[in-house]
Amino acid sequence: MIKAGLLGLGTVGTGVVRIVEGHQEDLQRKTGSPISIEKILVQDRSKSRAVSIDKDKLTENAWDVIDNPDIQVVIEVMGGIEPAKTYILSALEKGKHIVTANKDLMALHGAEILAKAAANGCDVFYEASVAGGIPIIRTLNEGFSSDRITKIMGIVNGTTNYILTKMSQEGAAYGDVLKEAQALGYAESDPTSDVEGLDAARKMTILATLGFHAEVSLQDVKVKGISAISKEDIQYGKRLGYTVKLLGIAERQDDHISVSVQPTMVKNSHPLASVNGVFNAVYVYGEAVGETMFYGPGAGELPTATSIVADLVAVVRNLKLGVNGRELFTPYKEKKLKSDEQ
Ligand code: NAP
Ligand code: HSE
Repeated sequence: MIKAGLLGLGTVGTGVVRIVEGHQEDLQRKTGSPISIEKILVQDRSKSRAVSIDKDKLTENAWDVIDNPDIQVVIEVMGGIEPAKTYILSALEKGKHIVTANKDLMALHGAEILAKAAANGCDVFYEASVAGGIPIIRTLNEGFSSDRITKIMGIVNGTTNYILTKMSQEGAAYGDVLKEAQALGYAESDPTSDVEGLDAARKMTILATLGFHAEVSLQDVKVKGISAISKEDIQYGKRLGYTVKLLGIAERQDDHISVSVQPTMVKNSHPLASVNGVFNAVYVYGEAVGETMFYGPGAGELPTATSIVADLVAVVRNLKLGVNGRELFTPYKEKKLKSDEQ
């Protein structure tokens, strides 16, 4: 039996519990082990929960999870930088493997977390941190390991794509659709990071770091969000045959990398113009492969939890093989390339 601890039981944590319980037999066939969620950190134990859970499993004390000797894997789905960072580093020091959906943390402190993991022989997987249910991190790390990636471009924030779609297709008001996206569990706890493009910038930092094998700094990303986009802007674009999308673009040219996030008029004939609602799409261009596109739900309970549980399966498989923490490369250690602002 593999025992995991959850830090957080909100939108994503609830999905993780549902998938681990609902797909238990299947997961067991795929890993050779039953998997149980042993303990769950929440802020408020008395709050009613969207999933039926044994109350004894809930705790308001993170150390009940981190110090629990039975727990081998800690799944962090509470969000934010602190105390999540302290909890993850402490769990790694205790030899626990980490699965996280936290792009804020991985974009800013990925190098430190991965170094701590390597020093302690632990896995850190973070597939859910970018593009919800699209396995784009695994794709960059493994699928394209043979190629030299030149450009990564796409829609990587579900909340803003949901807002722009509803404003464009239904003429809905920005504020009303933002509230809908929050109610659906797509938005961050502070949705400023979604609408001002910061969430997309963090995701593009992670993708550029992995895709280009370079330390890409969040500070070097040029960011503009959608809060100033009006219905009139959207209608004007429509009349000219364009759709407004929040696009992230990361490009490599020789020794130079540029990363940006900004609202962009996309020609209606381009597939990105038809990526609607909470869906995300990421184009990856490689010198050998050419153009590829990956499409799927970018946020929400079950799509995001799918990526988390896939990471959990990877940890359990590594445990069976005794190869945890044996990454052959870590992109964060490679030579830093010049950003276009240097
Ligand atoms: P959420 O619904 O706000 O849930 C957060 C959970 O963490 C809640 O259960 C909360 O407890 C608990 N929590 C937060 N701070 C805590 C603290 N200091 N001590 C103890 N418990 C604490 O968030 P979410 O939408 O599930 O997102 C979680 C993470 O996944 C974030 O990093 C987010 O960026 C990432 N993510 C989210 C999505 C998505 O679609 N939502 C997709 C991809 C990645 P209570 O329940 O008691 O309040
Ligand atoms: N708030 C994020 C989004 C969640 O809307 O894309 C998924 O990372």
